[in-house]
Amino acid sequence: MIPTFVRRRPSGKETGTFLALDLGGTNLRVCQVTLNGDTTYSLVQQKFTITQDAKESRLWDFIADCVGIFLEEHGLSPAPGKRTIPCGYTFSFPIFQTGIASGNLSMWNKGFTVPNSVGRDVVNLTQSAFQRNHVPVEVVAVLNDTVGTLMTSGYSHPDTQMGIIFGTGTNAAYWENMENIPKWTGADRKGEMVVNMEWGAFDNATEVLPYTMHDNKLNRKSSNHGLQVFEKMISGLFLGEVARNAILSLVDQRLLFEGRSSEILNKSYTFDTAYMSEIVADDSKDLRGVKTILESTLDIPPTTFVDRQVVKNVCGMIGTRGVRLSAAAMSAVLLSRPELMENPLSVGIDGSMYQFYPNFEKDLYNVSRTFLGDDFVNNRLRLHLAKDGSGVGAAIVAMTVEHERS
Ligand code: BGC
Repeated sequence: MIPTFVRRRPSGKETGTFLALDLGGTNLRVCQVTLNGDTTYSLVQQKFTITQDAKESRLWDFIADCVGIFLEEHGLSPAPGKRTIPCGYTFSFPIFQTGIASGNLSMWNKGFTVPNSVGRDVVNLTQSAFQRNHVPVEVVAVLNDTVGTLMTSGYSHPDTQMGIIFGTGTNAAYWENMENIPKWTGADRKGEMVVNMEWGAFDNATEVLPYTMHDNKLNRKSSNHGLQVFEKMISGLFLGEVARNAILSLVDQRLLFEGRSSEILNKSYTFDTAYMSEIVADDSKDLRGVKTILESTLDIPPTTFVDRQVVKNVCGMIGTRGVRLSAAAMSAVLLSRPELMENPLSVGIDGSMYQFYPNFEKDLYNVSRTFLGDDFVNNRLRLHLAKDGSGVGAAIVAMTVEHERS
């Protein structure tokens, strides 16, 4: 539960063009966002895949390189009389914010292990790399991707109360009355502030959720063992690996593929969550799609129809568990603010699981009925895809900061 220093809801009337940087788990996106002032926006963006080398060591210079390329390719330079271009920075890892443009990294996750960063101010680290590489950009706001999603959804739907990412990782942010935020130590306790929940860390003590041996195996072998255990049960980076563990355990019991695996399947993280999506969605009579993934992509020896059915069921169960836990988390936040549930409210969501996992949104609505009731879900709850929300949200927050400065 991290106070974010974001205190102003967007009105949808904001206008202007802003630079935004969006560091996710897989890609770095550099965007130029135009807010049209009529609840719509447009953006020009360039996506850079984050290299392994960047994830493990030279991240900050990698970011500076990518921003430099973007500025050059789009002919961008500081406004007349200015030395830098202001920029909003979405940073999709947990940071303890110390201000709107500063925050210390609490830990790495999603496979990142850049040394000498934990405990340090990520804006400083990025800004120093800009200076080293002569990139004329100044970070004026740093925010979590869920905060960006919340702001973007709020720009188009003013009744937005929550922003969620169901993607490579998972997390949520929501509006809270400042008097209810014990961690907020600022003098002013009136009004609202966005709280970055970092719910991926829920139950790190592993006391509440029913973990299987496949979850435990994944957790034990991960670079952030014992951390983000909730995230490991529901997000895109991990679900395929949970499925791979479950499939291999059936192989070892000779219940699948006559006890044979393949070199590819034996390697960690080779069973992509995207394969799970394809497998679950395969409704062909002979499960042809499943066969192609198992035999052609993963090089498993010829499979039987029963093998393919079992794999489809395993993936389906792990996916369904993920959606149920996702719905439970979202519902818990809404239930903690029952007064909000009397009126229609929107939740902005982004991420690969929400966008691409079969029926994710439909199931999210359905499972939420169990917790929130049919009346609220049918008549007042609205889930919206906040596409590119993290980048656009960074521009919205940067704009607010710039206006307050001038
Ligand atoms: C990070 C969060 C982020 C989420 C979604 C998690 O791994 O800890 O800060 O919001 O992923 O990208």
